[in-house]
Amino acid sequence: MLKLNNFIENSIEEVKNKIRDEKAIIALSGGVDSSVCSVIVENAIGDNLTAIFVDHGFLREGEADEVVNMFKNMLNFKYIDASEEFLKGLEGVVDPEEKRKIIGKIFVDVFEREAEKIQAKFLVQGTIAPDWIESEGKIKSHHNLSLPGGMVLNIVEPIRELYKDEVRNIGRNLGLPDELVDRQPFPGPGLAVRIIGEITKEKLDITIKANHIVTEEVEKIGLNKDLWQYFAVLTDSKVTGVKGDQRDFGYLVVIRMVASLDAMTAEVPELPWNLIKTISKRITSEVSDVSHVSLSVSDKPPSTIEFT
Ligand code: XMP
Repeated sequence: MLKLNNFIENSIEEVKNKIRDEKAIIALSGGVDSSVCSVIVENAIGDNLTAIFVDHGFLREGEADEVVNMFKNMLNFKYIDASEEFLKGLEGVVDPEEKRKIIGKIFVDVFEREAEKIQAKFLVQGTIAPDWIESEGKIKSHHNLSLPGGMVLNIVEPIRELYKDEVRNIGRNLGLPDELVDRQPFPGPGLAVRIIGEITKEKLDITIKANHIVTEEVEKIGLNKDLWQYFAVLTDSKVTGVKGDQRDFGYLVVIRMVASLDAMTAEVPELPWNLIKTISKRITSEVSDVSHVSLSVSDKPPSTIEFT
């Protein structure tokens, strides 16, 4: 078992020696990985770290405010609302990988614009072990990153060797609140990966509301402690329903809840039926334009956790 206090002290020391008096930036999402990294690096170099929170608009209900309120007095923190830019860039795009690429590119563009203003030499990244094991399978970290606009940044990855449960322990040790430390993992492109087909403002609003209901109901009964992720996916299918005495033709929403240790594999556990029925009733009655809710029961593999 990792010695937490030693890890924190050692990594603060390492970061100090590496960055010295230069400036560094981090893209802070409010997730546990980037939050823990921000606090470690802030401890090492203080205000020479700027934490940039790029709001792509695909965040969960209330999330942007929570992140701003949490960090605005703790770090040298900058909030950028880029939601219009993201929605515009995604207009008419339906292919999941293309959507991811566009989101990644806009994110880098926005981030680079901000980084240039700061003249940072180092980029802090919240990479953890499964990120590079799954994506590259190589052991050595790249040492610098050239951004499209020409900036070259040295990479600092303080928690690169850790797994999620270890990062959570470090977060608790650093004094981060439980709500943040225990938050379910959330993908970088956010709710965008939970919308099948073109992303429109209308579909995004439905997805935000449906995900909020799932989160509320799961957390109300404390099931979040046993789940890795729990969320709603908006499909691109419309199906026939009946609301009051009217025929209704609305979206099909899928609920997905999985247990996992590190997202490499995942299992759909037995779920309380009342919970599923309550979520279904709430989504169909509270979210206009949804006429049907179904439950995903597929494990990973063969399915992935996210739908796109
Ligand atoms: P999959 O869907 O591949 O997801 O089984 C495994 C874990 O990774 C998250 N995920 C992402 N995280 N950018 C991220 O930062 C992404 O594009 C992305 N896609 C999936 C997913 O939520 C799950 O925890």
